[in-house]
Amino acid sequence: MHDFDEGLARRADAYVEDLFVPPDDALSRGLDDAEAAGLPSINVSPNEGKLLHLIARIARASRVLEIGTLGGYSTTWLARALPPEGRLVTLELSPRHAEVARANLARAGVADRVEIRIGPASASLRALVERREPPFDLVFIDADKEGYVEYLDLSLRLVRPGSVILADNTLRRVFEDPSDRGVQGIKAFNERIASDPQLDSLILPIIRGHLDGLSLSIVK
Ligand code: SAH
Ligand code: DHB
Ligand code: MG
Repeated sequence: MHDFDEGLARRADAYVEDLFVPPDDALSRGLDDAEAAGLPSINVSPNEGKLLHLIARIARASRVLEIGTLGGYSTTWLARALPPEGRLVTLELSPRHAEVARANLARAGVADRVEIRIGPASASLRALVERREPPFDLVFIDADKEGYVEYLDLSLRLVRPGSVILADNTLRRVFEDPSDRGVQGIKAFNERIASDPQLDSLILPIIRGHLDGLSLSIVK
């Protein structure tokens, strides 16, 4: 990446983390166990986790939908933002990832608020649409990047005016290999949230060692 001082950016990220994200046993043991189980280390950063948590509280979200659970790291940050009667549904393709997440969510004391649904997110989202549940207040999209536009389309059937839709990795490699399917998926998603008349959106740059982004949209 050119024209971006990654050393300075990392120092700033560490400075913020030291100030605002105290060490947390459940979160760090969850990451250790995920790594030991061979899961990829592609969870959100501690600062981004705190950001997700704050956004959920600012939005007063009591029903949260997450797409892409991995080991439950971002899930834990979001679940901890819920009021006591709140619910979080998280969608994960891999039964192995879901199993690690289940143990981590139990250790973090949030398992009672979280439902993990295993399978391709597009099928799980369609099943949620069929279930005709109350709308979600906040959606966090963080699964396979090729699927982002479809996940947005389906999520829009599960929300209400005022709901918040967030998506991770929306600046990831966008200035790099344009033939990469993931990059294409992210750019299509970004163009969609920029132009969809139902949404008002922005992408917030996020530092995760390298430059990345978190998109924020409000449903009109
Ligand atoms: N939100 C997590 C990271 C998710 S990584 C965190 O920050 O802690 C992306 C996850 O999406 C992986 O666990 C991967 O197995 C899952 N995934 C990939 N393709 C998927 C699909 N089609 N449906 C559901 N989950 C998918
Ligand atoms: C990848 C996926 C993510 O959600 C992420 O935050 C970073 C990397 C990946 O598929 O490589
Ligand atoms: Mg991600």
